[in-house]
Amino acid sequence: MPLYKTIDFSPTTQILVWEITESYEQLFDEVQLNEKSLLRLTAMKSQLHQRAFLSVRKLLQQAGYNDFDLYYDESGKPHINDGKFISITHSHDFSGIIISDQKAGIDIELQRDKIIRIADKFVNNKELHRLKDTNSQDYIKKLTVKWGAKESVFKICNEAGISFKDHIWINSFEIKDQKTTAILEMENVKQQFSIYFEEIDSSPESFRGEQAKRNFTMVYAFEK
Ligand SMILES: CC(C)(COP(=O)(O)OP(=O)(O)OC[C@H]1O[C@@H](n2cnc3c(N)ncnc32)[C@H](O)[C@@H]1OP(=O)(O)O)[C@@H](O)C(=O)NCCC(=O)NCCS
Repeated sequence: MPLYKTIDFSPTTQILVWEITESYEQLFDEVQLNEKSLLRLTAMKSQLHQRAFLSVRKLLQQAGYNDFDLYYDESGKPHINDGKFISITHSHDFSGIIISDQKAGIDIELQRDKIIRIADKFVNNKELHRLKDTNSQDYIKKLTVKWGAKESVFKICNEAGISFKDHIWINSFEIKDQKTTAILEMENVKQQFSIYFEEIDSSPESFRGEQAKRNFTMVYAFEK
């Protein structure tokens, strides 16, 4: 099940999502990698990571690029050589890229109960207080949106010292809204971001013995 979804967000922004059901061999046969990528790929410890890495190259192909158009800076942030902005994410069954004329970040996260236990590490007290009346199913979804939004903002800014809890604030939202806004405030810098989010679910044929369907949250952000 290759290309899962394409969102033509605007004439200059495209989001592409891959559902990773192919074997390592199949993906490897279908992409061409530059030397650095081949080295990275062979050094990866898990095949899950390798397949995710290769599936991102499939997404690049879909968008009209290839691995030779992509390079990374010393922080690991990806860039493409035509001046557009790119952001990359991968999580278990899915990978995603956003390519835009605007600065953009993307994140896909598996929705898990575990996020409740770590909430106070990345959400400040005021944000947590506002979530207190949320029903339990939406609580996990909202925390996952907040996490993904903060990761996406981080991927845009990529500043050393950014604390998800202390420096990035996600404004209140309902899951049905599928959008919100965020503020990064740090050392006299104040930046605003538009945040968009949606749920993506793995398809039945990709369960491969999993007990239950897995729900993911995709979030993407633009600097305002
Ligand atoms: C680097 C980081 C953004 C990656 O996010 P992640 O959710 O772990 O993983 P994702 O799959 O969504 O993203 C990985 C991709 O991010 C991109 N990336 C890596 N470093 C990056 C950076 N400094 N800036 C922007 N993008 C980056 C890469 O493209 C990478 O995939 P690739 O190397 O296969 O191309 C994240 O690990 C991180 O460092 N976050 C900030 C640190 C932090 O404060 N964390 C927790 C606070 S409670």
